[in-house]
Formats: sequence, C-alpha cells, structure tokens
Amino acid sequence: MSDKAWSGRFAEPVSELVKRYTASVFFDRRMAAQDIRGSLAHAKMLAACGIIAARDLADIERGMAQIAGEIERGEFQWSLDAEDVHLNIEKRLTALVGDAGKRLHTGRSRNDQVATDIRLWLRDSIDTIDGLLRNLQASLLDVAETHAETPLPGFTHLQVAQPVTFGHHLLAYVEMLARDRSRFADCRARMNRLPLGAAALAGTTFPIDREFVAKELGFDGVCENSLDAVSDRDFAIEFCAAASLVMTHVSRFSEELILWMSPRIGFIDLADRFCTGSSIMPQKKNPDVPELARGKTGRVYGHLMGLLTLMKGQPLAYNKDNQEDKEPLFDTADTLIDTLRIFADMVPGIRVKPEAMAEALRQGFATATDLADYLVKKGLPFRDAHEAVARAVRAAETKACDLADLPLNELQQFSPLIGDDVYSVLTVAGSLAARDHVGGTAPKQVKASIARARKRL
Ligand code: ARG
Repeated sequence: MSDKAWSGRFAEPVSELVKRYTASVFFDRRMAAQDIRGSLAHAKMLAACGIIAARDLADIERGMAQIAGEIERGEFQWSLDAEDVHLNIEKRLTALVGDAGKRLHTGRSRNDQVATDIRLWLRDSIDTIDGLLRNLQASLLDVAETHAETPLPGFTHLQVAQPVTFGHHLLAYVEMLARDRSRFADCRARMNRLPLGAAALAGTTFPIDREFVAKELGFDGVCENSLDAVSDRDFAIEFCAAASLVMTHVSRFSEELILWMSPRIGFIDLADRFCTGSSIMPQKKNPDVPELARGKTGRVYGHLMGLLTLMKGQPLAYNKDNQEDKEPLFDTADTLIDTLRIFADMVPGIRVKPEAMAEALRQGFATATDLADYLVKKGLPFRDAHEAVARAVRAAETKACDLADLPLNELQQFSPLIGDDVYSVLTVAGSLAARDHVGGTAPKQVKASIARARKRL
C-alpha cells in the first residue's frame, strides 16, 4: 500500500504526513497477541459454519503460528504503510498463506475486531492488576501484624487526635485496596462481552455463530447491539476510573510516607533503595518513590479525563476518534502496574520508629478524649466533661507536660469526680485497649481484623 491509494476507489495516495497522523501501529502492536487470538477464534467459527473451507482454516492457523513466532522473536516487520496492528498482521498472513489470508476478514470489520482486541487486552491487564493489589494488601497485612500494638498518633486536621496503632492505620489501606479490587472485578464483568459479529456497525450477512466465538475467547456472552458493540468505550473509561481510585489511595499513602519520613516527624524510614540523595546537599535522603507515585496519580487522572472527553461528542457508531483510546489506556495500565509492584516491595521495608510516635502522642494530649469519657462514665454530662478536660489540657500545656504527668490533686481541681483510677485511662495503652469493638483500634481487634482480611485475600 506504500505508494498506492487505499483501494481502487481512491484517485491518489495519502500524503506521508497523513499516513503518519492516522497510523496506530506503533502503539497498537501491543495488542498483537490479542489480535491473533481473536482472528483464530473468528476463523475457527467461519470454518465451523461453512463460510470458509477447513483447508483455509488450516492455512490461517499455520500462518498465524508463524507470525506469532516472528513477533515474539522481534523479527516481524511492522510497517507504517499497513497503518495498524490488524492490517499489518493480515497483510503478513496473506503473504504467507495466500488466499486463505484474504478470506479471514469475511464477516468482520476492523471496528468489531479492535473492540474485541482491547477488551481482551484489558481483561489480561485487570487480572495482572488484581494480583498486584492482592500482593500489596498482603505486604500491608504483614507490617500491620508486626505493629498491631505499636501506638501512633491518629490525626484529624493533621493535629494529634487520639492514639491508634500503626497496624490499625495500615489496615485502613487494606480496606481501600479491597474496594479497588472489587471495582476492577465489576469493570471486568461488564466488559466481558464479545463485540465480534457487529462487523462495521450493522452486523453481517454471513451465517455466523457469535456464541461460538464468545466461548472460544472466554467471554461471558455477546454484545447485544451491534452499534453499541463497535462504538462505546465506556469499559475503558471505567477501567481508568478504577485505576484513578487506586492511584488516589496510593497517593494518600505516599503523602503519609513522605510526611512520616520527614526528619521533623521521623515516624518511619524507608529502605535506601527507594530513596535518592541530592546532588548538592550531602545530608539528604529523599523519598522519591512515594513522591513520584503521588505525581503519577495526576497522569492517570489525565487519562481518565482524556477518555471521557474522547467519547462525549461521538455520534454512533464507530469513529476514528476511538483510535485515541489506546495510548491513555496502555499508559494507565503501565503506570498502575509499575506503581503497585514497587509499593508491594517497599512496604515490607518500612522501618518504624516507635519512640518518635510515642513522643508525638505525649505532646499532643492524645488521651484527652479518654479523660472526658472517664468523667462521663462517672456521671458528668459530656459537654461539661469536655470543658473540664479542655481546662486540664491548658494547665498541662502551661507546664509543658502530658495530662498523665499532672498530680492527682491538680487534676481534681478540674473535676472532683477524678480519682486515682484516672491514670489507667490517661495512658496510651489504656486508651487503645478501651476501643474494643469491630473496627476499633484495640490491639486485640486489630489482630482479629488482620486474620479476617487474610482470609478474604
Ligand atoms: N486502528 C483503528 C482503531 O484503533 C482500527 C479500526 C479502524 N476502523 C476504521 N473504520 N478505520 O480504532
């Protein structure tokens, strides 16, 4: 097709610039394996339905096996002239097996072909991503178990609020990732319908068997409407939305790792292999990996926006606009897969510094709510208890000590209900142990929660 027009219908070939502008082979060749799989299933069905001869099927299978080998070995000659992955493979097939290759496209269009290929590609990606999300959950659970009893200041508004355990904190991310996995599973289930048979847009005049192809390719059924089958990319948008939410969660976690690793906070350290130094400041150890993950989140959101915008103005059915779906999709999957791999590796190497966490708890009056609850249990209305403790905090602040450091007679100035049993609620361990219900931070509950999460993995 190099210097020739597209077909006999055209009076002149496209210009070099247009050829480059419209070609997709340099990115859609990533779907070569899926394209071959789809073509083989289609050819098998054509033969089973008597639309092509058994001999043609055998030729197509032989040619495709050869092509798959060439691609795998990096010997396949991809050509811009053949525009995209589909035409490249078809052209090579015809060169190898002759007329049988020319018969492959019977009852099919590149429109239903590409819609099938992307679904197959995304389905594989989702399966990979699910495994990686699971691995990251497993890493988080291991660290959570080690630190099921390690106290960490829980924050609201980034101000010390109440003690939690580090394990409890990590379990929050395990939950987020569980929802992420179920979102991908939903996306996969909706996507797993076969578009082939829709042909260009209206279906085909050949007596095809779509269920046969669906079964061959592991789809749960066929797309019901041919126009919808070739034109909508909502499944790709859903994929990017699910990916964006994973990145949101990864980004929040990254932000915490970065803050925790700052020497001003110093709650954790990350293994050296995830950090870099500075070319000018010798003392620096920068958390590059979490910072980049936070940054790459924006890139994935961008792809989601890109795909939504790509779709919104398209009349039914297929339009060339849709060719633009691939690069954002591939990049979304690549970014997510790399990020999840790195995080699953990085999390087990988080070095926790319990002394720094304990010190922050002391400075933050983290057990103030426990003192208020204590007074309520002795009969004081909550609002009055809140006020009494607020005044006690102010006194401790003036003396630069923790509530638990105030002597009993001093504490009793804020409420006569305070007895010497108060010190057990003012300790961090007491505060943690008291939150003893499903979802609470008591170490006993954290351990039970880890066990349940492990079972669900
Ligand atoms: N490369 C095209 C794409 O990615 C394949 C479908 C082309 N169909 C067409 N009618 N031009 O969407």
